[in-house]
Amino acid sequence: MTLNELKLECEKCTRCELHESRIKLVFGDGVENARVLVIGEAPGKDEDEQGKPFVGRSGKLLTEMLEEVGLRRDTNIYIANMLKCRPPENRDPKKSEQDLCIEWLQKQIEIIDPKVILCVGRISAQRIIGKDFSVTKQHGELIERDGRIYMGTFHPAAILRNINNKPLLEADLKKLAEAIK
Ligand code: URA
Repeated sequence: MTLNELKLECEKCTRCELHESRIKLVFGDGVENARVLVIGEAPGKDEDEQGKPFVGRSGKLLTEMLEEVGLRRDTNIYIANMLKCRPPENRDPKKSEQDLCIEWLQKQIEIIDPKVILCVGRISAQRIIGKDFSVTKQHGELIERDGRIYMGTFHPAAILRNINNKPLLEADLKKLAEAIK
């Protein structure tokens, strides 16, 4: 199965109520044979309108910072979210929504088969890396598991809230780019 075929199936998904309020499904963006899969939380307003992940203010920051270390959606990475539909008012995804949506992400991981999975923010890091993952304490650690490397780091929205942490995210992304050389 290709990502496009999976996306067509995902567009029909009615497993949770978020499909009723969304404008567009935000399935993911990037190359099918990506070496790095970036996983965020859920679409926000801009993503919901455009149908693409990380295109709003924090998304632009993340995209710029990834490009600085040679990681680009048109070349070597794929970006997806834990949830494919926008939660109202950008509230945190509910556990039940994550449980219903995770299968789409698992299938994306199977198809892309990335060497590295980068979780940005607590929600995806705790779901994908470990339930007690602390972004503040464990960001930037390279965790090897099942033939892949996992890293959790700051969500770009958290960097916009506290710009002092930007060098920490920069350093993590640099380390990640080194790890796939
Ligand atoms: N925040 C996320 O976690 N994902 C997006 O796609 C946009 C903002």
